Amino acid sequence: MAQARKTRMECGVTDVPSAIVFQKSAYGPVFTVVAAGKRLTFVTLNEDFRAFFSSKDIDFEQAVQEPVHNTASISKDIFFKTHPTCSAIIKGRLTPGNTAMLSAHLCEEFNDHLESLGSEGSGQLNELIKSVMYPAVMSNLLGRCNSPSSALSRQEFLEKFTTYDDGFEYGSQLPDMFLKEWANSKQWLLSLLRNMVAKAEETVYSESYGKTLLQHLATSIPDKYLPNYGLLLLWASLANAIPITFWAIAFIVSNPAVYKTAMNQISTALGDQDKEKTKVTLDDLQRMPYVKWCIMEGIRLRAPGAITRKVVRPLKLQNYIVPSGDMLMLSPYWAHRNPKYFPDPEDFKPERWEKADLEKNVLLEGFVAFGGGKNQCPGRWYAIMELHMFVALILYKFEFNLLDPVPKPVSSLRKSNVQ
Ligand code: HEM
Repeated sequence: MAQARKTRMECGVTDVPSAIVFQKSAYGPVFTVVAAGKRLTFVTLNEDFRAFFSSKDIDFEQAVQEPVHNTASISKDIFFKTHPTCSAIIKGRLTPGNTAMLSAHLCEEFNDHLESLGSEGSGQLNELIKSVMYPAVMSNLLGRCNSPSSALSRQEFLEKFTTYDDGFEYGSQLPDMFLKEWANSKQWLLSLLRNMVAKAEETVYSESYGKTLLQHLATSIPDKYLPNYGLLLLWASLANAIPITFWAIAFIVSNPAVYKTAMNQISTALGDQDKEKTKVTLDDLQRMPYVKWCIMEGIRLRAPGAITRKVVRPLKLQNYIVPSGDMLMLSPYWAHRNPKYFPDPEDFKPERWEKADLEKNVLLEGFVAFGGGKNQCPGRWYAIMELHMFVALILYKFEFNLLDPVPKPVSSLRKSNVQ
């Protein structure tokens, strides 16, 4: 049963969110690149991923300390002292069970912000997604009082956050003086976060939804550093989720057979509901496994370009001894193009996820989009639920017409260099 949807949305997809793309090198399974005086050693074989995620000879905090200092102004001493607590709180609050508790409020937020798009329109898909996801996720994780409420404040936040996010890679490596506009956006966001923390501490938490993640962090992180951690959390929660949502929708809508199957499932699960206040429960989501496969396939194809660890004691990989001091790099984007684990790796094939046991949170072998080991992404269950719900809702409410062909992945343009 295909339900008539109320509204029409025409979307450009030329404004493609950036993805870091690496070229597979001809230099062997473990190779080192020297960039700006730093040794970056890349690990490309799945059999070495276990060492990357669990070896005691490499360290996550040492790898990210300097980028954290540059992007969120948290000093070295404070970071090493407070990061384990911060990480434990986020992990504890975003377990699959706790994530489920956030879903009803998130659905209300998505409905409110999707409503403000009106009944018809045309624009860039990426901008549309940002205008809904930014305020909805901020309200869900940091509190409603902390979500930009007027169109004007939403627009200002969107501009500052986009500048901060777009320049994050450079900002993590270079001092502020080389990146004036980016540094201004960072300061603007930090002062916004200071206000948010003050509001979160004054606000009594909601009876029905309990404390927000920010209020939980406030119980253990000193006030002085809370805005800085808040900024990092905000960035981590949006930086990957927004572009992956863009790609998931573009892949679905541009592929008629996929679109039809997804729409049939969404219409059957949601029935004939009020389009302004559409309720999507976790049970409804369970009745849309194919839509979830589409989300997982979107995450696979547009996974982060690289994750890092610092080598703290010489580490043996294959026939190499990687010296301490090296940054060890693993690219999920690359790993997901290994045909041994993902046949026809460049193709968007939702049905490959049939083999995973998603109901039991078991993902596919070779899938590393969320990293691994004790620093694996703590927001992964939230991210999957959030994207699944958002994509189901937006496709239920709007009929999309893409104005441009979906751009080819950058890597296929460079296929001659890929081995
Ligand atoms: C599809 C969306 C997402 C992807 C692909 C993603 C991926 C990642 C990856 C690869 C890491 C590094 C893991 C490692 O080094 O082993 C990470 C870290 C992190 N992610 Fe996510 N993430 C996503 C969404 C989210 C969301 C929605 C949240 C919060 C609600 C979040 C919070 C975090 C945090 C706080 C860290 C740092 C953990 C630490 O400091 O130990 N992420 N994410």
